[in-house]
Amino acid sequence: MSTTTREGIPEEIEDEPSSPAIQRLEYTFNPESPRILVVDDERVIREILSDFLGLEGYVVRTVEDGVQAIEELQKRSYNLVISDLKMPKMGGLDLIEKITELGIPVLTVIMTGFGTVETAIEAMKHGAYDYILKPFKVEEVIHIVKRGLDRQRLQHENLRLKDALSIYKISEAIATSLSVEKVLDLVLEAVLDAVDADIVNLLLERPADQREAGERPGAFVEHARKVSARLADTEAAPPLNFGEVLPLLQDDKPLLAHGARAFRYLSGPPEKRLVSFCSIPLKLKGRTIGMLNAYSYTKGAKFSEGQRKMLYVLGSRAAVSIENARLYESLVDANEELLGANVSLEENFQQTIIGFAHALEESDRYTRGHSERVSTYARLIAVGMRLPSEELETVVKAGLLHDVGKIGIRNDRLNKPGKLTPEELAMFRSHPAKGKRILEPIPFMRDLVPGCYCHHEAWDGSGYPQGLSSDRIPTIGRIVAVADAYDAMTTDRAYRKALPHVIACGELERCSGTQFDPEIVRVFLAHVEDFRKAEALASRPIPR
Ligand SMILES: [Fe+2]
Repeated sequence: MSTTTREGIPEEIEDEPSSPAIQRLEYTFNPESPRILVVDDERVIREILSDFLGLEGYVVRTVEDGVQAIEELQKRSYNLVISDLKMPKMGGLDLIEKITELGIPVLTVIMTGFGTVETAIEAMKHGAYDYILKPFKVEEVIHIVKRGLDRQRLQHENLRLKDALSIYKISEAIATSLSVEKVLDLVLEAVLDAVDADIVNLLLERPADQREAGERPGAFVEHARKVSARLADTEAAPPLNFGEVLPLLQDDKPLLAHGARAFRYLSGPPEKRLVSFCSIPLKLKGRTIGMLNAYSYTKGAKFSEGQRKMLYVLGSRAAVSIENARLYESLVDANEELLGANVSLEENFQQTIIGFAHALEESDRYTRGHSERVSTYARLIAVGMRLPSEELETVVKAGLLHDVGKIGIRNDRLNKPGKLTPEELAMFRSHPAKGKRILEPIPFMRDLVPGCYCHHEAWDGSGYPQGLSSDRIPTIGRIVAVADAYDAMTTDRAYRKALPHVIACGELERCSGTQFDPEIVRVFLAHVEDFRKAEALASRPIPR
């Protein structure tokens, strides 16, 4: 592991895996040259589009039908698919349906040779972004592609901004109030905002003491509702057909439906034209105690699979808040127990932040699971160093949240092959400071600040943000640095494949005393083999 300053090689963008042995082997999303998949059974069309779009600087691949397209989309990520309508095996409409079903985040444009606008409109109803009538002019295709990619980029930026805003709002509330109603209110507000819904509401199971005679558990009543500025405040949400909704929620099956397909989840036809409906279970110990519903009436504003997942994160926060509220109320007289409830509230809020960090991590396949693994390796080191149990807990949590500052950072611009511009490098390097700013205002998160703020410092003083050296770097920062580097090296990145375990250990050893605290590297290497054996025995995946 080395950095630019020591060996003059470009600094890598993700957690310093800048070993000279590492080669950039893999291409990934790069806004400079977006990837397009052309699907057509006619060779001539494939060749024309591939040539012209290639000339425009796009990376283009071609396949002959929908089946091949799905295979390709599961192998590599694409920004846009241009597909013919009629093809042998799987046609364009089926392809779009399959893409939606699999939740592949790609824009689709349909080409139709039949000159009928009806088929094109049909395609757009199925979720296509736009259509092209054959025979087409190449400039027209390029125009549609550019417009689509622009829109995609803006959506991306918007989403990141919204994530960052939601977490700030929620962490602010945590710092200023422990009121559960307020947190629930914020959750609903965040949902309304995050998915740009027209109505969101929270239904809860009717408590036992409020049930009517003979009423069985399982009746749900509206507990809170928010309505967008587009509708009157008093606008009610359409009542649900619980017979259809509940079994799906109980089995954790995604409930996201558009247009007329959503009607079966309502108790009757809606008064307004419903565009999209999404419902998320609120679960406690596996039981559905409520649900969070989002409705869109705005033309073209369908909820996406990504938004549904975001709702899921918010929904699970709401569930814990409710649990805490019940806990809090029942314990309000018993001082000692009350203290316990407070601890549980703190845990809840920590989980909120961790949930958001995870949601962000999930959006990037290269960082998926990174925080969990860093936390596991950090625990291994802390146990090896025989840290007292309280410090051990802090190390574990700091491992989970070390990169929380990336919430405010555009990862898609940084996840590219090739050198970062000085501006991009500065943006990447700001994440420890951003993390500090997020955690510091929250009293019970303050202990985690050193792990987050100092995990890119180097033993010899060449790290950042402060350029601290040796034991002036807080121990927790030195621990997270080693855990972070090992995981970064042993997982696939945008610019290279994962390194084998032995090579990664070799790198840690090589940089022990320059980048890393030698004692911490020694402890990690002394315990990692036993850890790997135990993981393998438990059939959990380990780096190769
Ligand atoms: Fe980091």
